Amino acid sequence: MTSTNKKGRDAFASGLGAFAATLGSAIGLGNIWKFPFLTGSNGGAAFVLAYLLSVVLVGLPVLVAEHLIGRKMRLDAVHAYGAVVPKQGIWAAIGWAGLLSAFLIMAFYTDVAGWVFAYVFKSAVAAFGGKALGAGTFSSLAGGTWEPLAWQAGVLAMTSAIIALGVSRGIEKATKALMPLLLILLVICDIRALTLPGAFAGVDYLFKPDLSKITGSVLIAALGLSFFKLSLGMGTMTTYGSYLPDGTRIAPNAVRVALADTIVSLLAGLAIFPAVFAFGGQPAGGPGLLFNTIPLIFSRMPGGAFFTTIFFVLASVATIGAMVSLIEVPVAWMVEKGRVKRPVAACLTGTAMFALGTLATLSQSAVLGSVRLFGKGFFDLFDFVSSNVLLPIGALAIAVVAGWLLGRKPFEAELRKGHAAQPWHTKVILAFLRFVAPVLILVILLNGFGIIRL
Ligand code: PFF
Repeated sequence: MTSTNKKGRDAFASGLGAFAATLGSAIGLGNIWKFPFLTGSNGGAAFVLAYLLSVVLVGLPVLVAEHLIGRKMRLDAVHAYGAVVPKQGIWAAIGWAGLLSAFLIMAFYTDVAGWVFAYVFKSAVAAFGGKALGAGTFSSLAGGTWEPLAWQAGVLAMTSAIIALGVSRGIEKATKALMPLLLILLVICDIRALTLPGAFAGVDYLFKPDLSKITGSVLIAALGLSFFKLSLGMGTMTTYGSYLPDGTRIAPNAVRVALADTIVSLLAGLAIFPAVFAFGGQPAGGPGLLFNTIPLIFSRMPGGAFFTTIFFVLASVATIGAMVSLIEVPVAWMVEKGRVKRPVAACLTGTAMFALGTLATLSQSAVLGSVRLFGKGFFDLFDFVSSNVLLPIGALAIAVVAGWLLGRKPFEAELRKGHAAQPWHTKVILAFLRFVAPVLILVILLNGFGIIRL
């Protein structure tokens, strides 16, 4: 991943490197694609409010717990949870479920990442031809057969190669340089969108909550998004925690990551919804919302076709950091203890992910479009099972392990390693991990599945 430490494991070289890599895993399609798409299909501001609360009350404490356990154990997720509570190897199940989540998420994530890469190409071609992207671009791409599969295969081959070659350090550097550019471009989109006539209906939609819209399924979607966003509940952040230098201050680092990540999502929302309302579109536009709206916003600017291309270039860079961290979960597990070489592990993982990914991709086309399991196509099913079932259950188990089973002393010692933290930090974080996070997750899950009624 980066430099190698004494035990021969990879490690992030510095505190800033740790921040950038963690943020690189967090920021991705979740911000620019999933946050707007879920906000639109769950009724707007009430969902945003539930999401923000979920990040603060549940996501942040679990992020601290994952980094803390990862760094304490200095192992991949399966081995870390298998050993973290003496004589309770059963918790390795968190790591195993995490491996399953990594595959399910990558199956649809690489489909969407393929659309992003395709848009780089398509918007560049359109720009050279002096045209804008046609209105049917998204539906014909996503609903196709060979074209989305080819992009998906390309995306997976590239990400696996990055992991195999161990060049993630270069990616980290590129990400660090390009993220601020993505931010600038998002702000430009925001300004353009917000100055369109009728745009403020979109701001209201995003920030004026109608609390009657909060239902069990809205809550569970918001909770699931907060885990998906911060790469939690499946061992990704535990694995990254195992690369954190001892000097990294885990709690402030987590706060900075969550804050930066949330700002990027809100900026994406502030570009998309004002534009959707100004152009008379549908907020519940589904997975195509980003792809249909961004080119429209830029089409109202001089040099718009060029900016559309740059936007999707930056978006594709953001997806790489997230995908690298997703592939890293199974790869780290295989490579730990030196059983399998990194390139072999990357190749195997990439191929298996592609096999599962074809199901997600083809479920958007005529080939598997009519196949339904539990009332959902594969793309939606993989997304639902990972974000709304596996990640919350994983996060619940992690909160229990860190809050109740690890013991106060080891918890405190790891949190304070390398610096003197305020004693109240430990108290507050433990209170959240013991009570607030588990109770909220449990209640939202049980309510979401109709087992209890709020
Ligand atoms: N956090 C990433 C995003 O929001 O795009 C997605 C993700 C990456 C989820 C890594 C889970 C994970 F382990």
